Amino acid sequence: MSRIHEALKRAEQERASTHGCVGEPNVVEPVPNATVTAEDWTAASTAIPTAVGRPFATVAASFASELGLDTLMSHCAPVQWNPDPATMLFFNGNDGVRGAEEFRTLRSRLYHAREKVTLKKVLVTSALPKEGKSFMALNLAQVMAQQHGRRVLLIDADLRRPRLHQMLGTVPNPGLAEYLTGQDDEVTIMQRGPLENLFFVPGGRKIENPAELVANGRLKVLLQRVEPLFDWIIIDSPPAVSMSDAGILAKSCDGVLIVVRSNKTPFDVARKARQEFAAQTLLGVVLNGARDQAAYVR
Ligand SMILES: Nc1ncnc2c1ncn2[C@@H]1O[C@H](COP(=O)(O)OP(=O)(O)OP(=O)(O)O)[C@@H](O)[C@H]1O
Ligand SMILES: [Mg+2]
Repeated sequence: MSRIHEALKRAEQERASTHGCVGEPNVVEPVPNATVTAEDWTAASTAIPTAVGRPFATVAASFASELGLDTLMSHCAPVQWNPDPATMLFFNGNDGVRGAEEFRTLRSRLYHAREKVTLKKVLVTSALPKEGKSFMALNLAQVMAQQHGRRVLLIDADLRRPRLHQMLGTVPNPGLAEYLTGQDDEVTIMQRGPLENLFFVPGGRKIENPAELVANGRLKVLLQRVEPLFDWIIIDSPPAVSMSDAGILAKSCDGVLIVVRSNKTPFDVARKARQEFAAQTLLGVVLNGARDQAAYVR
């Protein structure tokens, strides 16, 4: 049993003995909206944090001093990644690969947005399956980590169909599912690959109740614990339309990037996805799979 799990049990027992019920919500003030221009396929949103039960807040406080960079580096041993170069564009240090310039542009738009709003935790989502969320999250994290001294954490929060570990060519667990169920702590689930500044939390084992797990308050604790150690946290998610997970995840993030697949995503469906995040900072919409010619049409 992990230290976190033990502390969770202790906290739950203490709370049960004094209150006899589950935790109360911990409401935090929303971040103000930021505006978006049409040109900037990038814009801004509002993060209304999710309710956090007391047991997890207690755990976060009790371990707060333990997770420093030294702990992260010493406990998170480098592992072998064998990615598909067609999916992980920059892995071989190839900056001239097709699409690289677009990712660098996206990176600078996000830095630009960061001047206006608090921005570190970015949720990547889309309306439907197979629109390129994981592709986008993976390569965005990688292009962010290419910058000298920028430490990046990529989290696979698609607990229904976790795929990032396959794209990276690594093991799927332990991962987020193990953390959310209280089985493992944050350094145990984190992988450090061969790219110096890129860390990865895979989805973990298959679970039955993904929406309940991402809503149980522990994701917020995880993000609070690891946030000081990273410059960017990029979170991959399931499709937003018809599943609640992405909406729940967005509440723990600073902003949302919506991926739209060129010639595939119906306009109404894209608009519905946008509406799902009406209360969040919309950082922008990424048109994925656009032909070069189409990319220049305004
Ligand atoms: N711009 C792109 N160029 C090349 N391949 C791409 C691009 N976008 C996506 N793909 C490929 O398309 C497939 C689907 O993409 P991806 O898995 O990222 O979609 P997804 O939205 O995350 O799907 P799901 O909803 O199932 O998680 C993957 O094989 C991915 O590598
Ligand atoms: Mg995916």
